[in-house]
Amino acid sequence: MFNHNVIRNNRSFAFESVESLFFSCWNIGFLSERLMHTEKLRFSCNSKMAATSATGFSVGSTASAGPRVGSTQLKASSVKLNPKNYLTSFSGLKAGNSVSCESQSSFLGDESTLVLKQGYNSKAWRCSNRSYSRVQPQASYKVAILGASGGIGQPLALLVKMSPLVSELNLYDIANVKGVAADLSHCNTPSKVSDFTGESELAACLRDVDVVVIPAGVPRKPGMTRDDLFNINANIVKTLVGAVADNCPNAFIHIISNPVNSTVPIAAEVLKQKGVYDPKKLFGVTTLDVVRANTFLAQKKNLKLIDVDVPVIGGHAGITILPLLSKAKPSVTFTDEEVQELTVRIQNAGTEVVEAKAGAGSATLSMAYAAARFVESSLRALDGDTDVYECSFIQSELTELPFFASRVKLGKDGVEVVILSELQGLTEYEQKALQELKTELKASIEKGVAFVQKQAVAA
Ligand SMILES: NC(=O)c1ccc[n+]([C@@H]2O[C@H](COP(=O)([O-])OP(=O)(O)OC[C@H]3O[C@@H](n4cnc5c(N)ncnc54)[C@H](O)[C@@H]3O)[C@@H](O)[C@H]2O)c1
Repeated sequence: MFNHNVIRNNRSFAFESVESLFFSCWNIGFLSERLMHTEKLRFSCNSKMAATSATGFSVGSTASAGPRVGSTQLKASSVKLNPKNYLTSFSGLKAGNSVSCESQSSFLGDESTLVLKQGYNSKAWRCSNRSYSRVQPQASYKVAILGASGGIGQPLALLVKMSPLVSELNLYDIANVKGVAADLSHCNTPSKVSDFTGESELAACLRDVDVVVIPAGVPRKPGMTRDDLFNINANIVKTLVGAVADNCPNAFIHIISNPVNSTVPIAAEVLKQKGVYDPKKLFGVTTLDVVRANTFLAQKKNLKLIDVDVPVIGGHAGITILPLLSKAKPSVTFTDEEVQELTVRIQNAGTEVVEAKAGAGSATLSMAYAAARFVESSLRALDGDTDVYECSFIQSELTELPFFASRVKLGKDGVEVVILSELQGLTEYEQKALQELKTELKASIEKGVAFVQKQAVAA
């Protein structure tokens, strides 16, 4: 049995200010989920929550999400908050009171919160301020992005800079990171941005970091397969993870650099050699596959995007990406042709972007969005949220393969539970696809392991 809560935030506000945009992305989406969890609040707003369990699934497709969730998640205190008032209050605060958020330790900062409480009189605020004062998220986590000036790194850094949970954001790259950090540091969100360039500064970048995200490497060009990237990116990941092992061995490590099916085993081997491998804290980021599966399914079946949740298992390349459409929520019926068409589109979605960009790189914006979601989930788990579920490519005993992507429950120490139930009752198509992907995935995993072991022997 498990429960799965996801706030989906595809909203359509007319943004009145950058702060409104900020709140829309993080506060109403990611943050409101955190607030709901932390204080057991249920906001009645446009945000929607979908909940799944092994036995059932219900979707909050109207305003109030709480009561639709399984009974274990119903909370006694239900607070209504109009997000539009909330947004206005924040942008109004900044304009009217010139309160700086930058040096404060919490999202709005203590001083800002005080002014906000004193100055804002809307009904929504009056009815919620008592609770709000207790749910101020504390920005207290340190995140490092390695490869921060790249196509993924930059938008990812922006999204992470917007997180109310981050106190320090360290950006590392071999090139151009100073400008990116200077630019970002002007955003008046709580985290302090620092730049680090070159191997001599890598250790300082990583010291005491809670979450390390690695998008460093080269992206795919047209005609390139993920395996073509192997030799370049394998070395980059090996070096960077070695530094992580030396400087922040307890951090959650998010590997984005492709081919993820090999770079995650590479990272595991490096960490083993350094004697600090904790399989619960090493993640291959496959969130983009889930994001794409949700989007494409919603488009295909004319579903509201926020209602859709598709688990994606296996690996993160071509046929190793296996969306479990039979487990999609809400439950949808497909013809065989539709299953085939959707599955292939999800598997080849990366190529769709590579070809459209015609030589200018691979998916960066959607990847940054997906990676930011995974960072936020990790931070919430670190922060004690007990309802965090994501799909990820991890060391696994779910199949005979040593690494496998599936839905997992995240906790303070990393992977807490691997969700078995989604692999039960697969359709014939999915069972066959699962068998077929194993050969390729096994080879990619072995290639990664051999890469590190060969170098160790040579040394
Ligand atoms: N996991 C996924 O779903 C997914 C999706 C898309 C792309 N990717 C992968 O992410 C990686 C980055 O893609 P991108 O589009 O941002 O590429 P990019 O070339 O735009 O950026 C890569 C960045 O890494 C930096 N870099 C290179 N070597 C480095 C090193 N040794 N240390 C630190 N930084 C280094 C580069 O200077 C550059 O800024 C690629 O491997 C790509 O295939 C993964």
